[in-house]
Amino acid sequence: MATNEKPPMPASTTGVGDRPKRKSILDRHKILETNATLLLVFSFLVVTIGGIVQIAPLFYLENTIEEVDGVRPYSPLELAGREIYVREGCYVCHSQMIRPMRDEVERYGHYSLAAESMYDRPFQWGSKRTGPDLARVGGRYSDDWHVDHLIDPQSVVPESIMPKYGFLLNTRIGPDYIGELMATHRILGVPYTDEMIEAAEEDFRVQVDPFGDFDGLLERYPNAQVRNFDGRAEITEMDALIAYLQMLGILVDFSTFEAVANR
Ligand code: HEC
Repeated sequence: MATNEKPPMPASTTGVGDRPKRKSILDRHKILETNATLLLVFSFLVVTIGGIVQIAPLFYLENTIEEVDGVRPYSPLELAGREIYVREGCYVCHSQMIRPMRDEVERYGHYSLAAESMYDRPFQWGSKRTGPDLARVGGRYSDDWHVDHLIDPQSVVPESIMPKYGFLLNTRIGPDYIGELMATHRILGVPYTDEMIEAAEEDFRVQVDPFGDFDGLLERYPNAQVRNFDGRAEITEMDALIAYLQMLGILVDFSTFEAVANR
């Protein structure tokens, strides 16, 4: 059996006169490849460094944190509407983030700016579009359309699979907790002033009262829309939700907005 066996390879390929070979980098790497714990530690290091290199500059680039004219914190009523939006899980089917791709921009309007969600706690970008993106739904439909659609989506869009939210029309809502909610948002970085928090209950009520004294509201929250959103005498969750929907994406005036590419 041993007759046609090849002679064993020499242990080293070092020829006569060659310098003895140093351990190559690949030999060293083998240590990592054969030791799971070391591999884990080093992979973690590499991912950490890569992450820092990618993420850290974003904190210093001005255009990722730029403020844009028109963007302001939510008015008390809008904030309450936003809470209802989150509570009802609208984000499960609706995103609020228009990507800068042609099909999206043509369908929904100008792509979303980072600044437009700077006061969102938590943000509502979403990751699922069972229904359309809502980042710029403000002003697209009348209040009546929203009331009809929320009560019975199929009555206005027959093929819709959106659930019915008619109970919002029968659920009264008061401003009792709104000052506290705004104070919480302030802790999280939203610049609500003491004056805004003091006036919160009044601002909440006056936003659904077109005959009220809403000058202060408009001064604190420019471009806030004042009207009876659901047509009912009392303030309902429907009012709050529609006030929120109707201001989505309308704060920035894109006829004058200029994106500065790299600052
Ligand atoms: C199960 C998924 C689902 C949920 C949950 C859902 N929607 Fe929808 N929504 C849809 C679908 C699908 C459409 C498109 C058909 C239509 O207009 O009804 C839609 C459409 C809409 C539209 C019209 C958008 C446009 O541009 O035409 C609005 C506004 C809207 N939804 C608001 C809401 C709000 C507010 C909530 C939470 C209270 C909500 N939706 C919850 C699925 C959903």
